[in-house]
Amino acid sequence: MAMAAASASAMARRAASWPRLLLLSHAFAAAAEPKRVLVPVADGTEPVEAAATADVLNRAGARVTVATADPAGDDRGLLVEAAFGVKLVADGRVADVEGEAFDLIALPGGMPGSANLRDCKVLEKMVKKQAEQAGLYAAICAAPAVTLAHWGLLKGLKATCYPSFMEKFTAEIIPVNSRVVVDRNAVTSQGPATAIEYALALVEQLYGKEKSEEVAGPLYVHPQPGVDYVIDEFNSVEWKCSGTPQVLVPVANGSEEMEALNLIDILRRAGANVTVASVEDKLQVVTRRHKFNLIADIMVEEAAKREFDLIVMPGGLPGAQKFSSTKVLVDLLKKQAESNKPYGAICASPAYVLEPHGLLKGKKATSFPPMAHLLTDQSACDSRVVVDGNLITSKAPGSATEFALAIVEKLFGREKAVSIAKELIFM
Ligand SMILES: *[C@@H]1O[C@H](CO)[C@@H](O)[C@H](O)[C@H]1NC(C)=O
Ligand SMILES: *[C@@H]1O[C@H](CO)[C@@H](O)[C@H](O)[C@H]1NC(C)=O
Repeated sequence: MAMAAASASAMARRAASWPRLLLLSHAFAAAAEPKRVLVPVADGTEPVEAAATADVLNRAGARVTVATADPAGDDRGLLVEAAFGVKLVADGRVADVEGEAFDLIALPGGMPGSANLRDCKVLEKMVKKQAEQAGLYAAICAAPAVTLAHWGLLKGLKATCYPSFMEKFTAEIIPVNSRVVVDRNAVTSQGPATAIEYALALVEQLYGKEKSEEVAGPLYVHPQPGVDYVIDEFNSVEWKCSGTPQVLVPVANGSEEMEALNLIDILRRAGANVTVASVEDKLQVVTRRHKFNLIADIMVEEAAKREFDLIVMPGGLPGAQKFSSTKVLVDLLKKQAESNKPYGAICASPAYVLEPHGLLKGKKATSFPPMAHLLTDQSACDSRVVVDGNLITSKAPGSATEFALAIVEKLFGREKAVSIAKELIFM
């Protein structure tokens, strides 16, 4: 509602200075063209927040540009070393899109990512212009405090941010301890585990409530944000590993980015040694939704020479189909299952990879609900996260954080998982 008023007043202002005909043709063009969203990224950006913003807005039909925002004077090209060692290749540079109009500029958080965004003069100019023209702008995690507040763009507004950064808010900002805050044309939020709620709020501002509900449906978001995660466990066994858990996360073109990045980010936070392996013909893969270019650590053939304490797959199509047809990965998974070592999958991958290769035999599992009929045993399909002995499965992008937290609990214990859940603002 705040946004409707804001864009209406922006329209009115434009209308005052534009001939009527031009305004009409502009309105038609605007209806036909997708809304444009800019997600700037920099070294140290929190990848889960960047991915959730880009992915969810893309699902709503927005044209999302992920652009590198280099601190003044630098040109680091398109490669970004996001937080937790995640390497991304952006679509372009902020400097290249400076003159373009965006319906939304949404800043992901993370440190030093938020400080790097803050120090990018071109971005500062763009977001200030966006605010002056009553356009929508947003920030999550450290970015409301470190970036927007620093630029003076939250003055007089209610806003939130990552709780430990709240003290950086100046006196003119009205702090609100809430997962997502919308005030006039500024939207702010708290952390990686509020990123989907935040992105859905952005969809609502741009497209309305109905659209945001339509987008939320297939994400299977947590019905009660802010509460504990639930693991439905059968045939409980201890997941043993000696020393640092060695985890393999395969990625393919068409892997779901929120699922891949929640796994990589959260397991690395917990202290696991996560190796991201490409099953394509090169290290760079392109994810499903926003077409984030993710750079894997190694090729799967190289991974096959090593032993892993856990192999866990993101979903997304055609990523899951590619996993299923990659013999070296399937062999690794079979070996893992035969030696009673943990393996898991989320979303499309239980149905498209594990089931056809007999890796769900005699096991309870869950999957992306529209694919649940492909599972032989569907008795646990209503659960968001299912553990059966050494197997762990989960539903959808909206349960990806719970899935990763459940893995942390199995590998490191409940205490560690709860402390990371709090760090992510999951609970
Ligand atoms: C982490 O995995 C890499 C291979 O990807 C390996 O070379 C390294 O020794 C591992 N580190 C630890 C601490 O286990
Ligand atoms: C996978 O994505 C990469 C990176 O965008 C691309 O270069 C490659 O050709 C793709 N592979 C296939 C099989 O489409």
